[in-house]
Amino acid sequence: TALEDEDMARWAALVMLVAVGTAVVAAINPGFVARITQKGLDYACQKGVAKLQKELEKLKIPDISDGVKLNPFGKVHYSLYSIVIRSFQLPSSRITPVPNVGLKLSISDANIKISGKAKARKRFIKISGNFDLSVQGVSISADLKLGSNPNSGRATVASSSCRSSINSVHIKVSGSRVGWLIKLFHKKIESWLRNFMNKKICEKVAEAVSSKLQPYFNTLPVNSNIDAVAAIDYSMVAPPIATADSLDLQAKGEFFSRTNRIPSPISPSVAAFPTEHDRMVYLGISDYFFNTAGLVYQAAGVLKLMLTDEKISKESRFRLTTKLFETLIPQVTRRFPNMKVQFLLSLSSPPHLTVDPSGLTLVPELEAQTFVVFPNSSLAPLFLLGLSMKISVAAGASSDRLTGELMMNSLRLELKHSDVGFFSVGSLQTVMNYLIHFLVLPIVNERLKEGFPLPLPAHIQLSNVVLQPRQGFLLFGADVQHY
Ligand SMILES: *[C@@H]1O[C@H](CO)[C@@H](O)[C@H](O)[C@H]1NC(C)=O
Repeated sequence: TALEDEDMARWAALVMLVAVGTAVVAAINPGFVARITQKGLDYACQKGVAKLQKELEKLKIPDISDGVKLNPFGKVHYSLYSIVIRSFQLPSSRITPVPNVGLKLSISDANIKISGKAKARKRFIKISGNFDLSVQGVSISADLKLGSNPNSGRATVASSSCRSSINSVHIKVSGSRVGWLIKLFHKKIESWLRNFMNKKICEKVAEAVSSKLQPYFNTLPVNSNIDAVAAIDYSMVAPPIATADSLDLQAKGEFFSRTNRIPSPISPSVAAFPTEHDRMVYLGISDYFFNTAGLVYQAAGVLKLMLTDEKISKESRFRLTTKLFETLIPQVTRRFPNMKVQFLLSLSSPPHLTVDPSGLTLVPELEAQTFVVFPNSSLAPLFLLGLSMKISVAAGASSDRLTGELMMNSLRLELKHSDVGFFSVGSLQTVMNYLIHFLVLPIVNERLKEGFPLPLPAHIQLSNVVLQPRQGFLLFGADVQHY
């Protein structure tokens, strides 16, 4: 009945909705996207085809032996032997992305120069000579299917289909008496060569993909160790996506603890990846990437810094002693004359980085516990300060690493607790500004200058780097050079 049909339709719609909903939940947004533009594919094609050419030149052509009936002689046996490929020219090639497949390699106008020896025999008559052969107008078209292995997190590549065709085969016989003979067998030799080459070229392409290209893909790091605390997970979250003019690799882009990995409490948002194509590759490095770093280092308890007088250069007139508070908090100087002071800086919560077109911004909340150091080295607490900072981060790059530099824009102090009575916290502003500028930031920046490894395959150098903050991610563009 109509009512049942309606119920059925409603039910079907519900099932659909649940299925779609599940798919949406299951999909993992990448924290790190690598986009290879057509310019990048052109460069990869140039490098890859040069390698393929070397492989094709290694093709072995077996001897050809046959006999043909030739009036009025009867059957004449001939053979071609010592056949070698002199050159295999691939002057025109292109790699283009194919939506839903991966990549297509198209080679046209290739030509092959072959030389060898020929001989023919009929009873007691034997003739022999050399021949040169050129195969022209060779076209090769191969689809490279791209995927990802969910277990290893690696990108995979396989030659999924391959066709080759040959326009013409010319045989030239040099200075010998076999010329007329080969001309007679031309058709047979040509069709044999066509079949052989068509089969072998595609075999070589498949072989080069599995024995050269896949191992090269495997040099893309899945996990990059940073230090004793953290590593970065660059495993693929989905198969590469080919669009009309680029190829996107989607990686997790997540810092994790090397000693105690836990699922990240945050997840990457969907970044609207831009459509620039001036550079060969673009990396979209999401705020998620940076913020998982903050979470991991904070959880490891390493984001702490003890500021002591020893950390200040001997030449400096600025000393971390109770004299510092002479006019600001005189009661401290009176109670603890001529003693050193120390500040233990720590973050109240994991540092959170915001990325938008105006830049990269950190607004960390810190605490500074201040101590006086007794002559017997034991510490007594003086007061606890809260520090609210606004820090801008300048991102940079050095060879294969992402670097950074912090600059403080503002600092707001708050007295959270005091063991030495009340005092106006504003009076400490200059001291804390000085400490942050000249002691804390140089230490942090020294570490950030070392940078974090970017996931690059082997033997790749970056040049013409551009860095631009966008909404939710840092855009990193570069040309690459394979060496
Ligand atoms: C260190 O010296 C201070 C001040 O004289 C004293 O209060 C504290 O008990 C001493 N600590 C130790 C471990 O001797």
